[in-house]
Amino acid sequence: MPEEILPESIGPRESLGYPVRCVQECVDATAAHDGTALDLGCAVGRSTFELARICRKVVGIDYSQRFVDAAEQVRVHGSLAYFRSDEGDLCTPLIARLPKGVDSQRIRFEQGDAMTLRPDLGSFDVLLMANLIDRLRAPKSCLERLKDLVNPGGQLVLTSPYTWMPEYTPRENWLGGFEQHGQRCVTLDGLKSVLGSAFELTGVRDSPFLIREHARKFQWSLAQASVWRRKC
Ligand SMILES: C[S@@+](CC[C@H](N)C(=O)[O-])C[C@H]1O[C@@H](n2cnc3c(N)ncnc32)[C@H](O)[C@@H]1O
Repeated sequence: MPEEILPESIGPRESLGYPVRCVQECVDATAAHDGTALDLGCAVGRSTFELARICRKVVGIDYSQRFVDAAEQVRVHGSLAYFRSDEGDLCTPLIARLPKGVDSQRIRFEQGDAMTLRPDLGSFDVLLMANLIDRLRAPKSCLERLKDLVNPGGQLVLTSPYTWMPEYTPRENWLGGFEQHGQRCVTLDGLKSVLGSAFELTGVRDSPFLIREHARKFQWSLAQASVWRRKC
């Protein structure tokens, strides 16, 4: 629950519930109604569950088998016990629950690498890639595959704070965040140049999120969400 991340009355409460907001604020639910969705880099599946409120079939893929196992535990058994870090060795036992009203039969979680997705994955009406591109070693080649994964007229939602780091993405593969010929290159322009032939940019918005380290330390970030429609 978002309030378990930040129980104190002070703090940036509007930054809570990011995986839910990625779906509620960025996906056109009317256009996607009863369609299919892919959540790439789904972690423990909170956005995947939210997509299942709109779409009849949702696939969540993450590189981490542990995250996929945790998401599957919530999907199948309805809950997962975990510990929230408070201070030093002190923790609070909490339970993550399947959100009310979500039909878990609509969802499938699987382990996979966004860089080498299986060829028979199919195509989807909605593709969400939340906070993944700046964790990939070759984001451009992943984005180039997306035109085959999104149905004509379908929606692509990309969100990221564009935290480019050589540990994840070799500098020569960054989509933005550098100067070239004296010009500042920002990631949104890099996305436009990679996606522009197959996708039309329909909207851009800022979306804050909060990562809890412990009761008195948080990391606040401001992601940029870009919403694209697959050209027909
Ligand atoms: C920063 S988290 C974002 C999680 C979630 N989408 C969200 O916005 O809250 C990035 C996720 O991508 C996953 N990931 C990293 N590299 C990946 C890859 N090559 N293929 C698929 N998932 C990957 C990580 O395991 C992690 O769960």
